[in-house]
Amino acid sequence: MKIAIVVISYTGNTKQVSILLEEALKAASHEVTLIPLETIPNNPNVTMLTLKEVPSLEGYEGVILGSPVHGFMPSYAMKTFIKETPSFSGKIVFPYVTHAFPFAWMGGSGAVGTMKKQVLAKGGQVSLTQVINWGRKNRDVVVATMIQSCVQLFNNSKQDE
Ligand SMILES: Cc1cc2nc3c(=O)[nH]c(=O)nc-3n(C[C@H](O)[C@H](O)[C@H](O)COP(=O)(O)O)c2cc1C
Repeated sequence: MKIAIVVISYTGNTKQVSILLEEALKAASHEVTLIPLETIPNNPNVTMLTLKEVPSLEGYEGVILGSPVHGFMPSYAMKTFIKETPSFSGKIVFPYVTHAFPFAWMGGSGAVGTMKKQVLAKGGQVSLTQVINWGRKNRDVVVATMIQSCVQLFNNSKQDE
């Protein structure tokens, strides 16, 4: 399957996960492109950010969206990217977030829920989402399990073609 991993990351956490996803999906014979978003300015504490570019998702059957949680929401860059993407119709989409506060309800689940809602409203299919708490001791296990589920999701979709 042709899969785009669109990621925004300021301190590297969300990017680190996207690289692991890229490696695992390539090892499972998918064609994967990692697409980092860039904002002007490159600073998540600024409220008025603009995207340097809105990359096109044309031709991708699968899309992974990775974002940090900022103020209980997906990063402004990710919200804007989804808003400015014309359609997710026919695409299998997997949104995930990384966050730092101790519980998922402190921003993580709301943020990934917002991304899911935005994608569904634009015709995408979302059956899997993930919240990754960066400070948790079991983070590596959570990430490894998530990667397995994600590879499975796209493998199953490839078989259905
Ligand atoms: C401006 C700002 C706002 C944040 N807001 C939240 C939040 O509401 N909830 C939370 O759990 N973490 C919050 N965080 C922590 C980040 O979500 C967390 O460190 C994330 O893993 C950073 O990802 P990155 O390294 O890919 O940029 C915030 C961080 C910044 C810089």
